[in-house]
Amino acid sequence: MATNPKSCEILRHNRKYIPGGVVSVNRKVEPEIVFVRADGAYMWDADGKQYIDYHAAFSPYFLGHNHPRVVEAVAKILRDGSSLPGTGTTVLEGQLAELLCENIEAVDSIILLNTGSEATSQAIRLARAVTGRDHIIVTQGGYNGWYDDVARKVMAPLEEIGSRVSPGEYRFIPMGSGIPASHQQTTHVINFNDLDSVRYVCERYPVAALITEPILQNIGIVKPQPGYLAGLRELADRYGFVLIFDEVKTGFRYSFGGYNELSQVKPDLVTYGKAIANGYPLAVLGGKSELMNYFIHPDKSRRPLLAGTYNAHPVPVSAAIATLELLLENEGEVYRCVDALGAKMEKGLEAILGSLEVEGIVARQGSAFCVYFMDHAPRDWHDLAQHHNFEADTKWRRALIDRGVYIFPEATKQCSISTTHTEADVAFTLEQMLETLKMITSDGASRLRISHSSTSSIEEHPPRLNESIVSNPNLVIDG
Ligand SMILES: Cc1ncc(COP(=O)(O)O)c(C=O)c1O
Repeated sequence: MATNPKSCEILRHNRKYIPGGVVSVNRKVEPEIVFVRADGAYMWDADGKQYIDYHAAFSPYFLGHNHPRVVEAVAKILRDGSSLPGTGTTVLEGQLAELLCENIEAVDSIILLNTGSEATSQAIRLARAVTGRDHIIVTQGGYNGWYDDVARKVMAPLEEIGSRVSPGEYRFIPMGSGIPASHQQTTHVINFNDLDSVRYVCERYPVAALITEPILQNIGIVKPQPGYLAGLRELADRYGFVLIFDEVKTGFRYSFGGYNELSQVKPDLVTYGKAIANGYPLAVLGGKSELMNYFIHPDKSRRPLLAGTYNAHPVPVSAAIATLELLLENEGEVYRCVDALGAKMEKGLEAILGSLEVEGIVARQGSAFCVYFMDHAPRDWHDLAQHHNFEADTKWRRALIDRGVYIFPEATKQCSISTTHTEADVAFTLEQMLETLKMITSDGASRLRISHSSTSSIEEHPPRLNESIVSNPNLVIDG
């Protein structure tokens, strides 16, 4: 008998009316749990079981679920007769714009949208309008939204991408059907951390933009190597393409402005979403005014189209203002707090891996972390696909969920700590991680390696990513 009968019943009902029963196919994962309530760091399922949440709905809930100050700001807006006039400007959008432009060096002016995909597509459109070029560069293992220009497979199996290509480009493997071949011809997919391949593409095509997450966070935490982001800046200036940092996931999680602020590399354009409004649908495109002003270019034929019925809706805008004001308090104290919790988690996890002699790496940036079961921190998707033990990772995640620790049950997806997680939550989580990892290591079928094994043995028998290991390889992306 199912241990979660109410979840099963809700799913059965929804399947009648929604293909697969879930409105976003990426949310269709095993185990199928229906969550009905959340507060702070916790979520409860329809059958009353409590979980500590590290998924955070693909990471917007940096302040935890239903943060009282955000809820109050939204409630006030609903009470005081605010609405979306849909004509002219509003006081609220001006307030939010000021908060962003006055506190983020890379941002002179902004536009407001609803989703990350809208923000990145506007960024690319703007870059094309500015440069008069069509081609764009994206990174293998990165995710920038669901529209045709960028919807390549994020976690493509090695069998499909083939051996490492550098310098050079990979085939655009569409994330699903319905993406016209013409789009695939102007999007060039290269490795992250690979400046030679940027040069390679720029020497062959008129490139309007390179868009990348500064840390690849749709495949865990794959960090830029020293000099990589600065190298991108240099190449953008040399070849005249627009450098777009997609900070939809990294923005506001590590510092107010995102990773561009930490790395001190200034992109031409930057996109934000997710954490900016702590769970309400809002996204931002910002950047240098000489580019942003193309939206009001005196020559109308040079203006990119900018529209959207719900742009700057007062509910998400008020949520964003409340969130950002909180993040700015006491000189960014929240960042110091979550970073300390993240460090505890990292140290604890490293100790667990060490005590069980499991070959693994803890990758962390501030409040975001993940474990890779391989002997080094991956430098790009190809490296990860070749060396990570996806099978053990997936088993581990499902075992943790069983024990009330909700991390997304697909290998490599990052975990997010919020400002409402406590030291006790981290301690409880580490206990569960130890117990579940013990279980996985004793299960020989998971092929978890013990540490200090030689690199050559890894090369001989790489645990490869294939369709059976990632349950939904086309669609293992956020949202
Ligand atoms: C880096 C990045 N860019 C863009 C997007 C698209 O954002 P949205 O799902 O809000 O359209 C996502 C979503 O996960 C993302 O992680």
